[in-house]
Amino acid sequence: MTGQKIALVTGANKGIGFEIAAGLGRLGWIVGVGARDAARRQTAVEKLSAGGADVFGVPLDVTDDASVAAAAAMLEERFERLDVLVNNAAVTGGMPQEPTNVDIATVLTAVETNVIGVIRVTNTMLPLLRRSPSPRIVNMSSSVGSLTRQTSSTDQGSTGPLSAAYAPSKTFLNALTIQYAKELRDTNILINAACPGFVATDLNAFRGHRTPEQGAAIGIHLATLPDNGPTGGYFEDAGAIPW
Ligand SMILES: NC(=O)c1ccc[n+]([C@@H]2O[C@H](COP(=O)([O-])OP(=O)(O)OC[C@H]3O[C@@H](n4cnc5c(N)ncnc54)[C@H](OP(=O)(O)O)[C@@H]3O)[C@@H](O)[C@H]2O)c1
Repeated sequence: MTGQKIALVTGANKGIGFEIAAGLGRLGWIVGVGARDAARRQTAVEKLSAGGADVFGVPLDVTDDASVAAAAAMLEERFERLDVLVNNAAVTGGMPQEPTNVDIATVLTAVETNVIGVIRVTNTMLPLLRRSPSPRIVNMSSSVGSLTRQTSSTDQGSTGPLSAAYAPSKTFLNALTIQYAKELRDTNILINAACPGFVATDLNAFRGHRTPEQGAAIGIHLATLPDNGPTGGYFEDAGAIPW
């Protein structure tokens, strides 16, 4: 067993996940770079290593039971535990997503990855997390999942475009985060949801105005919470987001 902190970031080959991995690496942590595509994973691991981070590639498709089980087996064999899980991988499901004419497959794809994928990865990693002295789970959500913001603003900047798939998948993820926190409240596991702001990544065809590094900051903050930190919360850089 190593004294270094061990983290796993899903969807870490690019965008915000890559920068969360880089940031945790800068803290001296060992970071598993979860990525479903071998070539993209390898490239990310090489870039992060070149930057001085102690990283290793973890083949991981969050929609695939066998892939997630194999990732847990790899962590078990190498480290016997996991300190931090960042559930970052997500898809929009495809656009457009107007509720009245949305393709059902679009909704299913978003929920399968952004919600079911998080349950699959979290529950498979939990036995390893329970062996950590201070386990943390960060669910990368979005402020577009805030029902308060969706119903109190018409500004697309805070609500996003009409969305029957992506935004509700993040509302679902927020609700799940609360349920996990309730079940785990008598343990040392802290679990929170995060919004990185509107970040220029592939997810939005690089229309965001923040950098992936700026977007990663809230994820890194929640990954490194002290033992008396919050759980069952929903945060952006400026503080708590209304549900
Ligand atoms: N960008 C924003 O403005 C914004 C705003 C609010 C919230 N967020 C959230 O922040 C997180 C990161 O988003 P991002 O903007 O960095 O998006 P991104 O650049 O599109 O990256 C998404 C990552 O998820 C991975 N992924 C997708 N499906 C997967 C699967 N089935 N198994 C494993 N990995 C999978 C992608 O891998 P591939 O390269 O293989 O596709 C990629 O590494 C997401 O949860 C997103 O919802 C982003």
